[in-house]
Amino acid sequence: MKNIQVALFALAVIGFFVFFANSIPQIESRPPKDVALGADMTPQQLAAAGKQIVETKGACLTCHGIGSPGTRAPDLQGIGARAASRKPATSAEQYLLESLVDPCAYVVEGYQCIMPPMNKPPSSLNDAEIVAVTGYLQSLGGEITVKPVAGTVSSPSSNGAPAVTAASSPQEIMTAMACGACHALEGVAGMAGKVGPDLTHLGTTAAARKPGVSAKDYIHESILDPTAFIAPDCPDGPCRSPSVMPPIFGDRLTAKQLDILVEYLAGLK
Ligand code: HEC
Ligand code: HEC
Repeated sequence: MKNIQVALFALAVIGFFVFFANSIPQIESRPPKDVALGADMTPQQLAAAGKQIVETKGACLTCHGIGSPGTRAPDLQGIGARAASRKPATSAEQYLLESLVDPCAYVVEGYQCIMPPMNKPPSSLNDAEIVAVTGYLQSLGGEITVKPVAGTVSSPSSNGAPAVTAASSPQEIMTAMACGACHALEGVAGMAGKVGPDLTHLGTTAAARKPGVSAKDYIHESILDPTAFIAPDCPDGPCRSPSVMPPIFGDRLTAKQLDILVEYLAGLK
């Protein structure tokens, strides 16, 4: 538990903004704090702010990879250049802005339209945040042309957007968190991923993962701090370290949702 707190605290410090707090008791070291985005930021500062949003609040890496294939969405490496040629008479900047707020206006060949508009719940990025993310995407292989917009990177609790969905059954929670993008679970709709271990009998496997650690404690840790213990077998061979599973669920789930999920998964014998 200590390690998890230290790791999460370090993440909070490395990130220059801090969010999600009271509703998420397992992360005690993060009070909600808004960070200002200025209209006078340099392109580099804009891209750095956008990178933080992509890696944390935007949860883009749940689906996308950067420099590696995503679980079910295109690799964003080089998107800054590629964006210019996606749609006729549409600049890279316009295409990227559109990709964020109206993702299905253009669906990349070979993929399905599953990306939620980033300016709507649950992400609810504001204009300044959308622009910062666009700046970051342009920096991946292209030139940053988008102009910063003044605003704040707000904690979901202060801009009124939910940090998490209202999902309350384990199945709803897993759907909302897109666990099925990577995991299979027999009998649960949408859970057919082939990136991480099949969770169908997780209660049994989890009990045997770490000596002296209960199934529930192991599952709790696996969700909050995936790299703390790497499961041996993934569908395509040995699981990779650090874990491909993003360490974002401590931010996305309320303590209650985490309990519901752990209870349910530990019961899968
Ligand atoms: C639920 C999964 C999911 C999430 C979360 C997600 N995306 Fe996507 N995204 C996709 C998929 C699938 C596509 C390809 C289909 C399409 O074009 O809509 C895509 C397409 C894109 C494209 C166009 C790529 C291209 O090659 O033209 C961009 C840019 C993009 N996403 C950026 C983002 C950013 C930035 C975030 C976070 C703020 C994000 N996405 C979050 C699934 C996701
Ligand atoms: C981007 C892919 C991805 C997503 C999304 C993801 N996982 Fe994982 N998960 C993995 C991988 C890969 C592993 C194996 C490596 C490891 O142990 O961390 C794993 C491991 C686990 C384990 C340990 C399994 C074992 O056999 O020891 C649990 C439990 C788990 N994930 C639950 C979840 C839950 C619940 C969600 C949704 C809240 C989720 N995962 C979302 C990829 C993912």
